[in-house]
Amino acid sequence: MITPPALLLSALVFTALVPPPCVPLQTSTLIAQACTHTPDRDLCLSTLRTAPEGSDLRGLTMAALKVANANASAVYNHISGVLKAATNSYEKQCLTECYDNYQDAMDQIEDSLAALETRGYDDILAWIASAMNDADSCEECFRAKPGYKSPLTEMNNGFDHLCTIVIATANLLVDGEE
Ligand SMILES: *[C@@H]1O[C@H](CO)[C@@H](O)[C@H](O)[C@H]1NC(C)=O
Repeated sequence: MITPPALLLSALVFTALVPPPCVPLQTSTLIAQACTHTPDRDLCLSTLRTAPEGSDLRGLTMAALKVANANASAVYNHISGVLKAATNSYEKQCLTECYDNYQDAMDQIEDSLAALETRGYDDILAWIASAMNDADSCEECFRAKPGYKSPLTEMNNGFDHLCTIVIATANLLVDGEE
């Protein structure tokens, strides 16, 4: 016969083991899976947790794209300010290139958001790779000439890392299609 304390105990165990129905176990599993292969796992976890509860891989990809877009736009605005203040002509040349590149990167993210709607996951992979290239060639411009140092290294790396999160979730979407 089950005595009340035993009943209580089994109720507690049951509560501990079974997640409440409104918490999507699936989303956190997907997030953990996607973030395993990213260079900055904590950034990946916190970024994907901006997705609404119950998100599937597409929802996670959308969340990552939105965060990357906001970031690119913040970097773009920052460059605009630095460019106005710049006096050295080579530095201006690089900053102009960076400015154009981040404009392109934002376009590629916009295109990726549209591609997500039509399940064009390979397009997303290609466009985000290209956005990462944009950040990289911005950095490269300063590196190419002795005596110059990129004032945007941290931002370029930050944006690059956000892009790797999109790549991680989009890769899982591609895998799921095979
Ligand atoms: C872009 O995102 C990275 C990573 O979260 C962050 O370190 C950086 O400060 C962000 N840049 C801007 C300009 O918001």
